[in-house]
Amino acid sequence: MNSFNFYSPTYFAFGRDAENRVGALVARFGGTKVLIHYGGGSVVRSGLLDRVKASLDAEGIDHVELGGVMPNPRSGLVYKGIELARRENVDYILALGGGSAIDSSKAIAAGTVYDGDFWDFYSGKPIERALPVGTVLTIAAAGSEGSGDSVITNENGMFKRGASGDAIRPEFSILNPALTQTLPPYQTACGITDILAHLYERYLTNTPEVEVTDRLIEALMLTMIHEGPRVIEDPDNYEARANIMWAGMMAHNNSCGVGRSQDWNSHNIEHELSALYDCAHGAGLAVTMPAVFSYVMHHDVMRFAQVAVRVWGCPMDFSHPEATARSGIEAFRRFLTAIGMPKTLGELGGREEDIPRLVDALCNGDGRPGSISGFVTLNEQDCANIYRMML
Ligand code: NZQ
Ligand code: ZN
Repeated sequence: MNSFNFYSPTYFAFGRDAENRVGALVARFGGTKVLIHYGGGSVVRSGLLDRVKASLDAEGIDHVELGGVMPNPRSGLVYKGIELARRENVDYILALGGGSAIDSSKAIAAGTVYDGDFWDFYSGKPIERALPVGTVLTIAAAGSEGSGDSVITNENGMFKRGASGDAIRPEFSILNPALTQTLPPYQTACGITDILAHLYERYLTNTPEVEVTDRLIEALMLTMIHEGPRVIEDPDNYEARANIMWAGMMAHNNSCGVGRSQDWNSHNIEHELSALYDCAHGAGLAVTMPAVFSYVMHHDVMRFAQVAVRVWGCPMDFSHPEATARSGIEAFRRFLTAIGMPKTLGELGGREEDIPRLVDALCNGDGRPGSISGFVTLNEQDCANIYRMML
């Protein structure tokens, strides 16, 4: 196991009606003027926005609001949010929604207290200071409620990049599984896929002897495989939603990733798809992961065989471990199809003639060195082959 530092101070308030505590939590963490930031309207329709405002009012906390965050959040609204936060002397950013509203909030939080262009953070500059961020989560997926990461699409070229720093880890996150009951089945399935992706990206490691995190990841994957189909069948199942919601947080606050190298090639390959086609991140991952796994499997067949046996219940073929590895990837693909995820690039709006553009943005965009690296290093030719496998 590698040496590591792990600092994850987010306060979680989990359970029914937990959103009514938002005013008390902002007050507890010292916020006096809040920017409420949210998406395209689900929080208005569900009444969550009104309940949050009432809770802030009850504590005498002033607030302004900025809606309109799109899935795959854009840089343009971040600039608007920074300007608003400065003009209104905001000292606390409160995200209502999923990864998109939370990531846009994190970008505003970092950009408001930074003299330069906030995009510097998405070109590799670590985030050291930010306004505090709180969240009320409405979809179990991205794990941004507990992570020190934010992903934004730059409209100037439509490429999607991530930024990181402990300063943007939410100070508190409110998780009420009942809030996720209004999700359309497709979005629920996208979330399940993303959570499994966060687990796979950590499972695919080159660090030996990381049994404790291997076993944690396997437990969370098994939970998702059990609860995913239950919640697709019965969207009002609070208990299944609760297990998925907490698994989604644990999958991505990095408690499963410490002390080991991680992959993230599938995420990088997918981010170009959601940037270009504006597809849901989870749907893009459903198409990307089986292709990537099949392509890189021979780098460490036993790792793929291990997850096949321990998680997907495949029998171990000692004479042909690659057959076991392959059956694990196939079981994963069947699971994704069963919960309603797409199988091909075409289903996301992708076209073969876009592949050179996707590869260029992926491998060379924003100063990248002509390749991406993770579990294995993939050059432009590898990435083109992988995109072609998805057609
Ligand atoms: O915008 P509204 O109207 O709120 O609708 C949203 C949106 O259309 C809807 N929705 C959310 N909660 C709902 C609901 N509809 C009905 N009822 C509810 N309770 O769902 C749609 C998707 O929302 P979004 O926030 O985009 O989903 P998600 O949480 O999957 O976030 C995706 C974004 O997170 C990034 C992705 O790249 C993508 O941009 N990621 C962020 C990460 C991080 N910060 O650590 C890691 C992830 O790997 C991921 O890359
Ligand atoms: Zn993800």
